[in-house]
Amino acid sequence: MQAFDLIIRNANVVTAADGFLCDIGVRDGRIVALGLGLQGAAEEVDARGRTVTPGGIDSHVHLDQPTGDGSVMADDFESGTRSAACGGTTTVIPFACQQKGQSLRAAVEDYHRRADGRALIDYAFHLIVTDPTEDVLCRELPELIAEGYTSFKIYMTYDALKLNDREILETLSVARAEGAMVMLHAENSDCIAWLTERLLAAGLSAPRYHATSRPMLVEREATHRAIALAELVDVPILIVHVSGREAIEQIHWAQSHGLKVYGETCPQYLFLTADSLGCDDSFEGAKCICSPPPRDAGNQQVVWDGLQNGSFEVFSSDHAPFRYGGPDGKRAHGETAPFSEVANGIPGVETRMALLWSEGVRKGRITPQAFVALTATNAARLYGLYPRKGSIAIGSDADLVIWDEDLDIELTNEMLHHNVDYTPYEGMRLSAWPAMTFARGEQVWDGSPLGEPGRGEFLPCARPEPAKARRRASELPE
Ligand code: URP
Ligand code: ZN
Ligand code: ZN
Repeated sequence: MQAFDLIIRNANVVTAADGFLCDIGVRDGRIVALGLGLQGAAEEVDARGRTVTPGGIDSHVHLDQPTGDGSVMADDFESGTRSAACGGTTTVIPFACQQKGQSLRAAVEDYHRRADGRALIDYAFHLIVTDPTEDVLCRELPELIAEGYTSFKIYMTYDALKLNDREILETLSVARAEGAMVMLHAENSDCIAWLTERLLAAGLSAPRYHATSRPMLVEREATHRAIALAELVDVPILIVHVSGREAIEQIHWAQSHGLKVYGETCPQYLFLTADSLGCDDSFEGAKCICSPPPRDAGNQQVVWDGLQNGSFEVFSSDHAPFRYGGPDGKRAHGETAPFSEVANGIPGVETRMALLWSEGVRKGRITPQAFVALTATNAARLYGLYPRKGSIAIGSDADLVIWDEDLDIELTNEMLHHNVDYTPYEGMRLSAWPAMTFARGEQVWDGSPLGEPGRGEFLPCARPEPAKARRRASELPE
């Protein structure tokens, strides 16, 4: 028997901390040796001159998630995870969303049925808590956390999803007691409703007014409030899809006061602006409707700064796949629906890694190590998947990307593998793309998608270390 199933030879390995040249020995889907001159493998791949990073963890994606408003997500677990793998992502964490009135357990069981036998890469679930009844808070949530669903999202906006402040406090208290990570969608719902009503009454209903209806201050206020509520409960939180300066300032404030407040941002806040929603009243801008909306060039720079200076832990896609054409995507409420009725979200699971490598690493804005931390390692730590996922280390899963660099390619939707009929990044020039993606040692991308649906496994998550609450003064030993 050979010592290894696979050796990736002469790899310029990058982790969140280091960069070194070595061979990577893989057996039974795990990295079992890092060294020079490894011998004895059934298969060898020469990576000479190429960077090898951990496979990406996209810790914020929406796949086959019921929406309840007539729109349908275009990607299920098969197309979504195939697309992810083609872009260098080897783990996704989508959301099992509780409908109001539904038990959390039923939402999780339904979501497993949607994933079972379909995924091409490994996946875990976040929960979305929309109905924190006594049974949910006292029984279901603690039970599910113990079973490996150790993170959940809370919405402060969207009528069908949002919690009020009291409900947020109760839910945060459970997270504190049980050691779960809480993700917050921070936008002030009433401000948005008030602005939306006025805009629509004035006949301003085109997609571009989506951005007008959700200005930065509604995100700033909700981010501030989320932080204050978490401070009161004394529990770590993660603010998702942060779009610009004012929200980042709130996170800085919290961090500088010793609070465990983590931040996530996404490609749309680096590469799109409010102008992407249109400069006229055409419906085309619906392609870029997402929340919070993209801002402006100044805010893009502040988001880049945040990636450089450690304000953000996570760079995820917030892949929310709705087709532009057809009756059940962006046009589910009509050919020219008002912005308030257009499905929120944009695709991006396949483009996340290459965009950040091309525009971030290759242009000298972030180090390769920061890239790895932002796209893989930090998510693994924050959501209880480390060290199995998110690193190139002995014992970790052999989830690996071998990069092609010095490219000059035009990004088009045609080259992507999602089931969406557009990419918001159409026409951008990229200098890098994954040449090969390995998921647990099996090649899932070599320029063409490989691997069978169902090979991806469900990953129960541990209670994440970063979700541990600080010990209260009253709990400290004398
Ligand atoms: O517009 C967005 N971001 N849609 C996806 C759902 C969410 O809030 O993350
Ligand atoms: Zn959100
Ligand atoms: Zn999302």
